[in-house]
Amino acid sequence: MQIQKEEQEQDMKSHAQILNHMCGIVDSVVLKCAVELNLFDVISNNKDSKPIALSSLATPPTLVSIKPNNLYRLLRYLVHMNLLTIHVQGNDETFSLTELSKLLLRDQKRSLVDWALAIIDETVIDGWHELSGCCTSPAGGPTPFERVHGKSVWELAGENAGMNQVINDAMVSDTILVMPVFVQCCDKLLNRITSMVDIGGGVGMTMSSIFMLHNWHDKECITILKKCKEVIPQDKGKEIILDIVTDQNEQDDDLTRAKMNLDIGMMVTSGGRERTENEWEVLLKLAGFSRHEIIPIMAVQSVIVAYP
Ligand SMILES: C[S@@+](CC[C@H](N)C(=O)[O-])C[C@H]1O[C@@H](n2cnc3c(N)ncnc32)[C@H](O)[C@@H]1O
Repeated sequence: MQIQKEEQEQDMKSHAQILNHMCGIVDSVVLKCAVELNLFDVISNNKDSKPIALSSLATPPTLVSIKPNNLYRLLRYLVHMNLLTIHVQGNDETFSLTELSKLLLRDQKRSLVDWALAIIDETVIDGWHELSGCCTSPAGGPTPFERVHGKSVWELAGENAGMNQVINDAMVSDTILVMPVFVQCCDKLLNRITSMVDIGGGVGMTMSSIFMLHNWHDKECITILKKCKEVIPQDKGKEIILDIVTDQNEQDDDLTRAKMNLDIGMMVTSGGRERTENEWEVLLKLAGFSRHEIIPIMAVQSVIVAYP
């Protein structure tokens, strides 16, 4: 069979792109591996915060037991992920953190380590293998997570303290990062509030009736929202929701990809979803709210304020 040169070139480009899609899991597991090895912390703790050489990284008391060759391959991949910077001087190569990996240090308040470990948790990952099975089974059936584990993620967390901790720690790490942005962008909204109730689940990190509804499917959301509407003062009360609006800031590729990732994640773990502006409008109307506004903030989530 004669294949045209242009077609050959296109196929080879597609080959590389499809390989990258197929191997998307490599990003996740290399990130998990780096966190488990405390790689980012070791690099950050180098004397005088200087970039560190492979030889120093692989020498006690740093990453004692890692084979230098394996470590080098991990470092090279992390550079490609923009989680490390490589500095080359002659034959010497040294490594330092990037803006991204500063959020992957363990012992600091603003850290996404617990979130990363939860996303790549073995029990959670099992569910992903059932995604197609879930998509082809009748609506209202078990989530992929339930198909594998026989119970919901919340039931499992209720029975298993370790799993509960993994989920709650992940929620806290995400909330701690987002809340300052929320408070800064919405200070006027918050200034006028005299009392607040946190109904957001987790361990109550999100202080207010500010919460996320993406864990629930529409019917449950409407029940929750209706209950909230009943108890807030009808004249000046408001429901403040911090959640994803998928069709906002669509020009930002990273943001849009993150929202899409979370949407599929919701499908797999909890049966929830991320919603468009339109879908939020329908949901809030069905719950009986008279009007609402969506306030974009510099975060993956937006602020949705609904009025009775
Ligand atoms: C997006 S997290 C918000 C966490 C919290 N606002 C914080 O700052 O840590 C949603 C939380 O709601 C709770 N939740 C969600 N869906 C639930 C369900 N179906 N049953 C029980 N709890 C649920 C869980 O505690 C979950 O961690």
